[in-house]
Amino acid sequence: VTDALLVRDLAQLATPAPAAVPARGADLGAVEVIEDAYVLCRGGTVEAVGRMRDLGPVTGDVEELDGRGLSAVPGLVDCHTHPAFGGDRVAEFALRAAGAGYEELHAAGGGILSTVAATRALDPPALERRVARHADWMFRHGTTTWEGKSGYGLDRETELASLRAVRACGGSPTWLGAHAVPPEHPNGDAYLDYVVAKVLPEAAVLADAADVFLERGAFDATQARRYLTACRAAGLALRLHGDQFTESGAIPLAVELGARSVDHLEATGPDGIGALAASSVVGVLLPASALFLARPQAPARALVDAGAAIALATDFNPGSSFTTSLPLVCSLACTQLRLSPAEALGAVTVNAAYVLGCSDRVGRLAGGYAADLVLLDAPDWRYLAYHLAGDVVACVVRSGRPVFRR
Ligand code: NIG
Ligand code: FE
Repeated sequence: VTDALLVRDLAQLATPAPAAVPARGADLGAVEVIEDAYVLCRGGTVEAVGRMRDLGPVTGDVEELDGRGLSAVPGLVDCHTHPAFGGDRVAEFALRAAGAGYEELHAAGGGILSTVAATRALDPPALERRVARHADWMFRHGTTTWEGKSGYGLDRETELASLRAVRACGGSPTWLGAHAVPPEHPNGDAYLDYVVAKVLPEAAVLADAADVFLERGAFDATQARRYLTACRAAGLALRLHGDQFTESGAIPLAVELGARSVDHLEATGPDGIGALAASSVVGVLLPASALFLARPQAPARALVDAGAAIALATDFNPGSSFTTSLPLVCSLACTQLRLSPAEALGAVTVNAAYVLGCSDRVGRLAGGYAADLVLLDAPDWRYLAYHLAGDVVACVVRSGRPVFRR
């Protein structure tokens, strides 16, 4: 086993330029492109990147990877996924295709609660196998760092098993304890009494962050404040699902509590855009979810132009976004959100890493960063977004080892 990897003769290497993180405004689209490039990795870290003609002699035992005709970008970061679930929602998908509404199905006890029943039916090893399968799907699309939420257990045992499964599969667990009110509790307040008393103490040890679904039919702003305040006191970073269908106060609450992010924002209007831009909270946009539900897209262009920090993610889940492809999300960003390929790259690398609290080591290709990279089967890195649903990922390198080749 060699400890060094030299990726040589790359047609291009593209990385977000050094800038304050999270990148906002013009910084989001600042990408450095090196033609005829190499990446030298050692011990799981990038030692150097540069032009082939500047590559000096490499010492030690080095494995070489031929990059001819390929482009390298940093390993992609999926900062919003729901991979811990049993069953599927394919029957619901067919009903929606025939005209049924997503919120109607949810109100009728289907939707999220049908996945809760299927997830509770799995024992912890079976749940972990499901998460591992979903993590492998992500990985084949170039995702080397990911967040995974619980939220389909909604009881102590299944929520904790979900968080353990995400960690065991290499993800960063987020406790989405407030996703829906399960049927054994009379209302949201009673359910929150239960989770704060019985689940939070252990969830706080297992998870990196907490999340809440702030929306009509789920939790209101008062309930979300109570849940998140308790989670913050227990040491968790804060995230919110907000403004998906209605503006229900998620952005002001995220700013008030110092959340890392507020995610969705399809219903955000001018006041929300201004408030987010004036804050350090990242807006995580999920265009695959809006597409999957045939809903309007988030005001991405207005957010970036106003100076808000944004990231992009898949929202992978069985109901509203059954995809693990960040390249597809980049395509949607350029075709539906009016972002540039460079802005999309920054949003799935540095800014997504910031949301997960790891942007000091993840999200750029430069000396000292994690040796996580994606080799694209294209001579120009912008094929990442250009090749709509294409087989664009040729090879994935994680911790300096080529672990997937098409
Ligand atoms: O981010 N909005 C709430 N939660 C998920 C969907 C969950 C589901 O439909 O199972 C989301 O879209
Ligand atoms: Fe989500």
